[in-house]
Amino acid sequence: MTETLDTGTIAAASPFDLAAPAAYAAWRDAKLSMAPRGLDDLRVGIRDPARLSEAEKTALDHHLGRANMALFRFAQPPEDVEHALLELGAQFGLDRLDRNLCAHDTGITAITVRETGTDKAYIPYTTRPLSWHTDGYYNAPERTIRAWLLYCDADAADGGENEVMDHELAYIHLRDHNPEFVRALMAADAFTIPANDEGGEQIRPDQTGPVFSVDPSTGALHMRYSARSRNVIWKDDALTRDAAGVLRDLFSSPDAPIFRHRLAPGEGVLSNNVLHRREGFRDDPTTGHKRLVYRARYYDRVRPVV
Ligand SMILES: [Fe+2]
Repeated sequence: MTETLDTGTIAAASPFDLAAPAAYAAWRDAKLSMAPRGLDDLRVGIRDPARLSEAEKTALDHHLGRANMALFRFAQPPEDVEHALLELGAQFGLDRLDRNLCAHDTGITAITVRETGTDKAYIPYTTRPLSWHTDGYYNAPERTIRAWLLYCDADAADGGENEVMDHELAYIHLRDHNPEFVRALMAADAFTIPANDEGGEQIRPDQTGPVFSVDPSTGALHMRYSARSRNVIWKDDALTRDAAGVLRDLFSSPDAPIFRHRLAPGEGVLSNNVLHRREGFRDDPTTGHKRLVYRARYYDRVRPVV
């Protein structure tokens, strides 16, 4: 990786250790000094997703290293989109896909308005907005989502913009506010996602865990979050409530490092599971505008290739 942040060296103090303020300060300075101003700064054109050029790899790597995300655009639509996305991910070490209930055999999910065949309308498959979250916040720890890839095959007639925020910048915001907020949100019982029951059958039990955690194998910061209040039961103490409030307020702050972008057909985002949301939208299939976004979720972070 050409330019990266040292978050993984075992011997060095972790910047995410509250007992290592010097390591945090050095990491924070480096992080902020290379922060992009918007997704346009993170744009990479891709000629052939199955065989990235060295320049394309280096650019993607650079952006992921500094912002945990990159915006890519294919020179032409692939004949087999799902296969092309799998090949793109594989070049970054992404081959362990999370197969959710709605995924295809490839492990990739087509996010479009559809009947899900269940007794609940899952919001991703409607035209409704999606609030801030990281992917897999309801998953058990062994199915932690550390990276995802979105690719726009067709856009909506109106709306459907995405907003993204590097979760490491959310961490910095909280820690600068009050390091005790970080401590509260790193607690193993910081919040609980209630069980998912369908047709009287429990398809997922309660999941309790931290918002922020550090992956012991890579030293990287992981974030687990949903802004949907009905999805989340916060630990009932003042510090946790205050920390959750500061995080929630960040999303509506005019100074927040939020990048807004409406994916055009042929564009996508590759990320280390950064925070994101989606605006509601309107389809108009008669003019070819039925929003279709493919999504792959991975158990590993994007692996540097250079
Ligand atoms: Fe998501």
